[in-house]
Amino acid sequence: MNYRAFKLSKYPQGKITMDIFDQVSLPMPALKEGEFLVKQTHMSLDPAMRTWLQERDDSYMPPVQIGEVMRSYGVGEVVESLNPRFPAGSRVVGVTGWSEYVLGNEEMTIIDPSVSAEAVLSIFYITGLTAYAGLMKIGMPKKGETLVVTGAAGSVGSLVGQLAKAEGLRVVGIAGSDEKCKWLVDELGFDAAINYKSDNLEAQLSAAAPNGVDIFYENTGGPIQEIIFNQLNRFGRVIVCGVIADYDSAIPAKGPSWVDINLKSLRVQGFIATDYLEISDEAVSVLGNYLAQGKIQYKTHTVEGFENLPEGLMMLFKGENTGKFVVKF
Ligand SMILES: NC(=O)c1ccc[n+]([C@@H]2O[C@H](COP(=O)([O-])OP(=O)(O)OC[C@H]3O[C@@H](n4cnc5c(N)ncnc54)[C@H](OP(=O)(O)O)[C@@H]3O)[C@@H](O)[C@H]2O)c1
Repeated sequence: MNYRAFKLSKYPQGKITMDIFDQVSLPMPALKEGEFLVKQTHMSLDPAMRTWLQERDDSYMPPVQIGEVMRSYGVGEVVESLNPRFPAGSRVVGVTGWSEYVLGNEEMTIIDPSVSAEAVLSIFYITGLTAYAGLMKIGMPKKGETLVVTGAAGSVGSLVGQLAKAEGLRVVGIAGSDEKCKWLVDELGFDAAINYKSDNLEAQLSAAAPNGVDIFYENTGGPIQEIIFNQLNRFGRVIVCGVIADYDSAIPAKGPSWVDINLKSLRVQGFIATDYLEISDEAVSVLGNYLAQGKIQYKTHTVEGFENLPEGLMMLFKGENTGKFVVKF
């Protein structure tokens, strides 16, 4: 029996295109002692995938190599096992790959049967850890402060904003459509939301954050970055989680001025969620409690069909998702 996978055929030049992936048919592996086979059911599509296709050797992960199955994480069911820690029938989350079946690895985590794959990918795995670690450990939020989050209607941003609201902050979200902004305010309880594709952004931000900005949770980059940076208060914190607007540029946009960082005593820190694996249980516990209390919610943008993976990844960069992008096989 064979299964489908997508291998990288060439590195993208600029934006991701369909022809950088080849769909292949691979033979099912015969398990050796200690191995287990996972049938992937839900795969996460992430902006980070674009950074894994950059030919640089100083990032937190090596680039995916030409001819390799594309990297990802996802949820699946153990269908065959020679490993007592991962018995057949259990469900796992972890690093998988763009593949219908994958050999399991010891870093995979067994999922509580009562938790849906969507909840795991939206809250209880990397997305949740990213939002929690960035905001709580780097942002060090204080009740009454003002937070601005970009990419606010995406998976990380929507969680950051809700977590900050639950912690007693004023929250302003930045997103790419009026519909997304309405969802942030009406459904998620953000205090204000700004469509970064509209006009008079400086004035809109001053009105939404009348006491200035204390925490800037940066997910996108783009021209809005400078506008938010300029409205930071003294002792402001900038959490550089991601810069999706720059991932496919040959030359990334220039960053903010070191003069302002100096004179306003700002703190600017980049991070990668996996730097904070030791607080995974804490993140799951806090986010789980807020979810149970109805203080946070999640939304998934689910596309069905393994064959739709390349197109799905392109949709993510066009802003066609609200919430966590999941592909269901
Ligand atoms: N540091 C870490 O460990 C870590 C972990 C996870 C994610 N991240 C980063 O966090 C950011 C958000 O990730 P996510 O998983 O939550 O993705 P996501 O927000 O679910 O999806 C991406 C969203 O980004 C927006 N976007 C796309 N191109 C843009 C552009 N040129 N300018 C401004 N916005 C653009 C789109 O929304 P609009 O309609 O609003 O444009 C799109 O829906 C990404 O930069 C990602 O790389 C970092």
